[in-house]
Amino acid sequence: MFQSLCATCHGPDGRPPAAMIARYGVRDRAAPEFRARVTTELVERQVRSGSKNKLMPAFEGAISDPQIRAVAAFVASPQFASPPLAAPR
Ligand code: HEC
Repeated sequence: MFQSLCATCHGPDGRPPAAMIARYGVRDRAAPEFRARVTTELVERQVRSGSKNKLMPAFEGAISDPQIRAVAAFVASPQFASPPLAAPR
């Protein structure tokens, strides 16, 4: 789900492609600063409402509640961004 809904902007492992940093100011979600404060609740809120500046769309209504919780738990899990994917950015 992350790969199909989120990776275009956030990159396959949370490290955003350069074009998305330039266009939307997407920040590195694999960075230690973010990993230290990430929780399922934080990601769930973000996915439901989108970003404050509306550059990230709200997914509430677009995907189901269980899907929102699943993708949020995945992004908050230690498996996300570690180990880094070998895929090219
Ligand atoms: C159209 C581009 C786009 C898509 C698609 C997108 N995002 Fe974002 N996302 C952003 C932008 C822009 C921000 C705000 C800048 C930043 O903090 O990176 C953001 C921020 C976030 C944050 C940071 C919240 C915080 O408090 O720092 C999380 C977590 C996040 N997105 C998760 C997701 C997840 C999970 C998905 C898929 C369901 C997703 N995003 C899809 C563009 C996108």
